[in-house]
Amino acid sequence: MATYKTALVFVLILLCITITFGKNYVSSLNVVETFPIKQDARASPNSCPCKNKLLCMPLSQAKNKYPTAPHVLNFINKSKKTEVFAFVAKCDASVWGKFDWSKLTTVALFNFYDAELVCYAHQQGAQVVKLGNFPTSKLGNITARQQWIKMQISDVILKFLDGINIDYEDALDPFTPEQYGLTSLVKETADAFHSAIPGSQVSFDVAWSPHGIDGRYYEYKKIADYSDAIFIMAYDEQSQILSGPCTARKLILGVPWYGYIYPCLQLDKNNKCYIKEVPFRGVNCSDAAGKELPFREILNIRQFYNATYHWDQNSLTPWFNFKNKKGQHQIWYDDERSLLYKYMLAVVSGFRGVGMYTANDLDYSDTPEAKLQQEHMWSLLP
Ligand SMILES: *[C@@H]1O[C@H](CO)[C@@H](O)[C@H](O)[C@H]1NC(C)=O
Ligand SMILES: *[C@@H]1O[C@H](CO)[C@@H](O)[C@H](O)[C@H]1NC(C)=O
Ligand SMILES: *[C@@H]1O[C@H](CO)[C@@H](O)[C@H](O)[C@H]1NC(C)=O
Ligand SMILES: *[C@@H]1O[C@H](CO)[C@@H](O)[C@H](O)[C@H]1NC(C)=O
Repeated sequence: MATYKTALVFVLILLCITITFGKNYVSSLNVVETFPIKQDARASPNSCPCKNKLLCMPLSQAKNKYPTAPHVLNFINKSKKTEVFAFVAKCDASVWGKFDWSKLTTVALFNFYDAELVCYAHQQGAQVVKLGNFPTSKLGNITARQQWIKMQISDVILKFLDGINIDYEDALDPFTPEQYGLTSLVKETADAFHSAIPGSQVSFDVAWSPHGIDGRYYEYKKIADYSDAIFIMAYDEQSQILSGPCTARKLILGVPWYGYIYPCLQLDKNNKCYIKEVPFRGVNCSDAAGKELPFREILNIRQFYNATYHWDQNSLTPWFNFKNKKGQHQIWYDDERSLLYKYMLAVVSGFRGVGMYTANDLDYSDTPEAKLQQEHMWSLLP
């Protein structure tokens, strides 16, 4: 209970900050151009993998055609709640079947496809999107962009999906054809998707701050205006997400369901872990010195080594030290306690929602401890 109270005070303070910052980021009206692609997005009944053929239709279209179908009612209910956007890595029904689908509103399939998952998600009123990336060298080439967009739309229609998440993370210099090309890519993708599949969802992933993190000088405000949602990858860094470049209602606060393990060259008296310098995009010391670990493994390690739980007051995240044959290590991660602060912050600030990378990272086995872990982590979501 004490945790909840502290969390509330914290989010209220941050809310004031948001309001102050928010003034700078009022979105402007865009002139919407229509895009020449017109395709029938309805699934052919023969190829539909779902038992109930209606489940193959993108939810936004089903909403117009079959507004009283039970799964459409689920979708309509979910449209009114906070977005819960999950990245899902390759897994089968034995894992994704244990997600709390009453919470999920969108799932982004990370480089895999599972028709059964699409049927199941639609049944639960959750949209399913694919990931898309684009080669930097062709960003300035409108023909290449249009070809790519056509391909993405065909793919989405063929797979009965609801949209696309553009996961472009390369470094781009400001005031270059590539920087402007990326903005155009987002605008053209959103226009084409909205025209081919009305109500479809086009989202874009951004770093935890708009100020050229990892060399990513993108036109954030325009990208936010053109897309339906912005997924803030508020992980791998100490987050400054409140100074984001767009209105809160488009922002999804992305949190990690993983952490970083760092080998320490030396651990000093104050528990400061000195790490190897591994340069990344112009920064000598980066998180590339560490390795990502899923939440379930982090908990196992902490339990196995009976490591003392520490709390970092600045980032509101836990960490611990442990030593094995290979030497001293330090792990930083997010858990029930730290995630609660972050979810509450998003909700109180009027964000579109929250999301996690990835939903797979829990222990989905059937042991009592695993079941408890699943229940705790899913129940915290708004
Ligand atoms: C939708 O929400 C309303 C009100 O919260 C509830 O009564 C209804 O049962 C829900 N319908 C579905 C299909 O979940
Ligand atoms: C632009 O992309 C198209 C299609 O990929 C390609 O055929 C063309 O050569 C490219 N143009 C330039 C200038 O690179
Ligand atoms: C990074 O390391 C190189 C080589 O040791 C050094 O020349 C450079 O000044 C360092 N840069 C920063 C920002 O510390
Ligand atoms: C775990 O650590 C705590 C405090 O550091 C200690 O009291 C306890 O006995 C340890 N338990 C085991 C099983 O080593």
